[in-house]
Amino acid sequence: MSLEGKVALVTGASRGIGAATAKLLAGHGAAVGVNYARSEQAAKAVVDGIVSAGGKAIMVQADVRARDMVASMVKTIGDRLGPIDILVLNAGAKVPLKFFMDMSYGEFENKVMGELAGFFHPLQEVIPGMIQRGKGCIIGISSGLSRYPGLKFSAHTTAKSGVDGLMKSLALELGPHGIRVNTVAPGLTITDATSWMPKEQMDAVGKATPLGRVALPEDVAGVVLALVSEAAGFVSGAYVPVSGGQQMT
Ligand SMILES: NC(=O)c1ccc[n+]([C@@H]2O[C@H](COP(=O)([O-])OP(=O)(O)OC[C@H]3O[C@@H](n4cnc5c(N)ncnc54)[C@H](OP(=O)(O)O)[C@@H]3O)[C@@H](O)[C@H]2O)c1
Repeated sequence: MSLEGKVALVTGASRGIGAATAKLLAGHGAAVGVNYARSEQAAKAVVDGIVSAGGKAIMVQADVRARDMVASMVKTIGDRLGPIDILVLNAGAKVPLKFFMDMSYGEFENKVMGELAGFFHPLQEVIPGMIQRGKGCIIGISSGLSRYPGLKFSAHTTAKSGVDGLMKSLALELGPHGIRVNTVAPGLTITDATSWMPKEQMDAVGKATPLGRVALPEDVAGVVLALVSEAAGFVSGAYVPVSGGQQMT
């Protein structure tokens, strides 16, 4: 699973699943662009950790919903690390935890369009270079909720269903250019994003999971590594749940 000589961009890599993914890819030899929006100190800690372990990484600030910021981030990575071989679309928009009829259109739009904009802009900035070089690997971080809805998650499920559709469409369009596109769908994962959840609820999900626990960010990162490695060189258009067997699909 060596990624020696490869350059990766992981969006939303200052915390949670993105941070674990950036560290794991760097640990396997990739030079990594650690994207963050606001958490500069957290992003610096991720980069420092990678560098002190002998890896290569830089921090790159950009709100992935803003095209000009994304364009300058991709240019910075190109100039400092080289052209991007691996794009991990991990940054998502905040989830409005509400019943549909309690949600404003603004909340729905921020989630659905914000999430998809954060995929659209990095994709459009990175894909041309991949096409030019005839190779590349793209991972979209979705969610088990894209296929199995949960109460008060309608906007999230809508956004992540959009992610799934976009990834499958790109696997079709980009396959002839040697570019693989896959979707990773985490189940409930212990991160800042789920810190609102009462422990009892977290434990109940773990108990209802065949492998007996909820996910850690490293569980998701491991699947991203496997999919971007040459070992998965003939896998494209796949949707891989990381749910300890809770989601079987
Ligand atoms: N945790 C779960 O249970 C779970 C389950 C299924 C799917 N997922 C998906 O996994 C992904 C990561 O979730 P997480 O739980 O790891 O989240 P998290 O711990 O809250 O971390 C979110 C990361 O995304 C970054 N980010 C947010 N908005 C951004 C923007 N507009 N531009 C650039 N970066 C941005 C944050 O950067 P700053 O710190 O700089 O703001 C942070 O690094 C999301 O797509 C989420 O939907 C999570």
